[in-house]
Amino acid sequence: MSQEQVIDDQIRTFFDPKSVAVVGASRKVNKAGYVIFKNFAENKRTGLFKGELYPINPSEDIIFGYKCYPSLAKVPVDDIKLVVVIVPAMAVPEVMEDAAQKKVKAAIIITSGFGEIGNHELENSVREICQKSGIRVLGPNCLGVYDPLTGVDTLFLPETKVLISGEEVIATPRPMPGEIAVVTQSGAFGVAALDYLAGRQLGISKFVSFGNRLDLDESDLLQYFLNDDETKGILFYLEGVRDGKRFMEIAREVTKVKPIVALKTGKTRAGAKAAMSHTGSIAGSDDVYNSAFLQTGIIRASDMNEFFDSCKALVFQPPTSENNVVIITDAGGPGIMAADECELKGLRIGELSGESIKALEEMRQRKEIPEFASISNPIDLTGSVTTDMFVNVAKIIMEDAIVNGIIILGLHHVPGLQEDFIDRIAALSKNYTKPVIICDIGETEMALYVRSKFEKFGIPAYASPEDAARAMAALYNYGMYLLSQNQFNNYLHKFRKERDDGKL
Ligand code: ACO
Repeated sequence: MSQEQVIDDQIRTFFDPKSVAVVGASRKVNKAGYVIFKNFAENKRTGLFKGELYPINPSEDIIFGYKCYPSLAKVPVDDIKLVVVIVPAMAVPEVMEDAAQKKVKAAIIITSGFGEIGNHELENSVREICQKSGIRVLGPNCLGVYDPLTGVDTLFLPETKVLISGEEVIATPRPMPGEIAVVTQSGAFGVAALDYLAGRQLGISKFVSFGNRLDLDESDLLQYFLNDDETKGILFYLEGVRDGKRFMEIAREVTKVKPIVALKTGKTRAGAKAAMSHTGSIAGSDDVYNSAFLQTGIIRASDMNEFFDSCKALVFQPPTSENNVVIITDAGGPGIMAADECELKGLRIGELSGESIKALEEMRQRKEIPEFASISNPIDLTGSVTTDMFVNVAKIIMEDAIVNGIIILGLHHVPGLQEDFIDRIAALSKNYTKPVIICDIGETEMALYVRSKFEKFGIPAYASPEDAARAMAALYNYGMYLLSQNQFNNYLHKFRKERDDGKL
C-alpha cells in the first residue's frame, strides 16, 4: 500500500468505523456527551449506523440501553476503531493513554482548552501519545464528523430545540446525502453551513471540523476528498494553512478534478488576532493566500454568501473557459443589474451569432415574442413573456456556438409565466454542456418555491441578479484555471458522463 493509501484508509475510519467508544457519554440532557451518544444510538436504532457502540462514563451503568464502562481500559473487546472524547481537557491525556493501550485507530477530541488558549504543553502531551501509538486525531477543539450515509454524527449540537410554546423546531439540521463536502476549521461556522445547506435542501457528502489540527490537518483532509467518490465539490473554511508547500501540492491535484471554494478569514489585524485565539492559527498575509489560491485553482469567496453561491454553481453546472454570457430576462432593471455585475467580474455581455439574431427576429415577426422585446444582449422578453417564449428563446441561445453561459432572470411575478417554466428550462439545459444560472427575486412563497425547484433539478438559483452574475464568474474563473492546466476537456467529459448517469 502506498503512503497515500494508508492515510486514506486511516481517515476512512473517521467516517465509517466498525466500532465507536464515546468517552464522556452522558445521561444528562443538554450535555455534549448526551447529544453525541444519542446521535449514535438513534442512528444505530434506525439501522443507519452499523458499528458497535460503547459508552464510557465512570458513574453510569447503562446509557440509552447500552452497557456503560468506567474507562476504555474496561471495555471487554480489543478492536475499538474510533473514540470520541468529550471530557474536560485535563482528563484527555489519560483517556488517550487508555486508547493507545487498546490500539484504537482514530480519535475525535471535541474538548476545548488546548493550544487555542496557550495550553500548548497539554496539547503536546496528547500529540506525543498519539504519535507514539499511531492514533490519528481530529481536533482537539473541533466538532468532528457528520456522514449522512454511515450515520457517524459527533455534532454536539442538538438537532431540535423546544420553543417556549412547546413547539419542537429544527435547530441544527443534518443535511441529506449529497455532493458537497464541508471541511472546516471553525466548528460553529461549519454547523451554520449545515443549517444553510439543509435550508436550501442541498445535500452533503461529508462534514468534517478539524479545530486545532493536533494531527490531521486541512491538507490531509483535502487529499482524502480527492478520492472520495461521493464528493463533487468542497466547501472549505480556514483560518490559516499549516504547511503551505504541501497544501499547494495537494490543492493543485484536487482542483483538477473537483472544485474547492474557500472562505479564508483573518484578513485584517483584528481578524488574525481572533483566529489565533479561536483555533491557534496564524492567519498570515492575505496577499499570499490570494496568490496561493490563484495558483492552485481554489475559488476564493469574499464573504459567506459568495461561499455558498459559488459552491452550488460549481458543483451543479459545468465551467466555461470563455466569457461571452447572455442574459435572458423578463425584467429590464434586473437585467441591467446582472449585466453590470457580469462586467465588473470579468464576464462579457457580448454578441449573439448571426443565426441567433435571425431566429429571434423571425420569432418577433411571427409574434412569438412581443414586438417590443429587446433581442440584443440582455434579451428582454418583457412582462408579456410566457413560458413558451422563455423556453424557445433559451433553446436558440443554448444552440449558439459563440455563447458560453446563460443567465435566466425569470421573475415569477409576470402573469404569463407558470410553474412549467422551471421543468421545461431544466429539461432543455440538460441537453447542453453550457452553464445555466437562474435568478428569481423575492422572499415570498413563490420565489422560494421557484428557486428551490430549480435547484432540485441541479440548476443553481439566486435571489439577486448580482449573486447570479458572481456565480457565473466563479464558473468562468474555474474554467480558465482548468484550461490553464490542460484539464478543461477532461473535466467536461467527466461532468457530462456523471450527468448522463444521473449522478448530478
Ligand atoms: N472518562 C469517562 N468519563 C469522564 C471522564 C473520563 N476520564 N472524565 C469525566 N467524565 C464524564 C463526567 O463524569 C461527565 O459525565 P456526566 O455528564 O454523567 O456527569 C462527562 O464525562 C462530562 O464531563 P464534565 O466534567 O461534566 O464536562 P462537561 O460536559 O461540562 O464539558 C466538554 C466537557 C464539553 C468537553 C468541555 O470541556 C468543552 O471542551 N467544551 C467546549 C467544546 C467545544 O466547543 N469544542 C469545539 C467546538 S468547534 C470550534 O468552533 C473550534
